[in-house]
Amino acid sequence: MRLAKLLALAGVASRRASERLVREGRVAVDGRTVTDPALDVEEFARVSVNGAPLREPGPRVVYALNKPPGVVSTARDPQRRTTVVSLVDSPLRLYPVGRLDVDVTGLILLTNDGELAHSLTHPRFRVPRTYRAVVGGGPVSEAALRALRAGVELDDGRTAPARARRLADDTIQLTIHEGRKRQVKRMCAAVGHPVRRLERVAFGPLALGGLAPGQSRRLSEAEVAALRALAAAAAPAPAGAAAPAPATAAAPASATAAAPEPAARRATGSVPRS
Ligand code: URA
Repeated sequence: MRLAKLLALAGVASRRASERLVREGRVAVDGRTVTDPALDVEEFARVSVNGAPLREPGPRVVYALNKPPGVVSTARDPQRRTTVVSLVDSPLRLYPVGRLDVDVTGLILLTNDGELAHSLTHPRFRVPRTYRAVVGGGPVSEAALRALRAGVELDDGRTAPARARRLADDTIQLTIHEGRKRQVKRMCAAVGHPVRRLERVAFGPLALGGLAPGQSRRLSEAEVAALRALAAAAAPAPAGAAAPAPATAAAPASATAAAPEPAARRATGSVPRS
């Protein structure tokens, strides 16, 4: 299998981060540094990362965390701020599935399963994420909601159609499936409603539920299976085939499943998240 995939399976990092590790010359096969992430390697034991031999993959786990404000959603932070990883009590090496801005709160998943993380964050899988935004700019108008639903012009291109509804005069619930940087903030600002507070309340079939800020819990097997089904349902189509349906097909996994929402509309022009 491809070296980057093997690294992701071993829980080293997501597939894309593993590709970077290889290109940076931090991975060796049979003691020799390699730089081709596509190199064909089958045995974990032949590979080392930063000089440390790779271990056979252990159990695959996924945690849900309610990220408090001020916490960074990386595995390590050069500025020594609290990270989402440090808030989860697990002996396994976990990393976050995608990112939330430091001031944004709510549901973030952490896993040691690089393949799953890759599927859940890659734009082509179009996993829907639902946010609640408390906004300024006066009462939210129907015109603003219509604009959000239709897609708004941002400096990195037009956003795909989204689901938007008003929860209160100053609160919008928005479901998107692109994952561009600061996307919700930029979308709301573009329709005249700068975001004052932003919380992610659902990710794919999972809802934040009753998790208190800073609290985490390990997902059940059924919940992880629902996430895997979501990724599989939206698996990349063969070259030349039509784009896959939006990734909302998975059945709710448990009592924490997100409230049923009609499937998000088809994405156009997704931009990969950095
Ligand atoms: N949209 C944002 O603006 N920020 C996030 O962290 C996530 C979505």
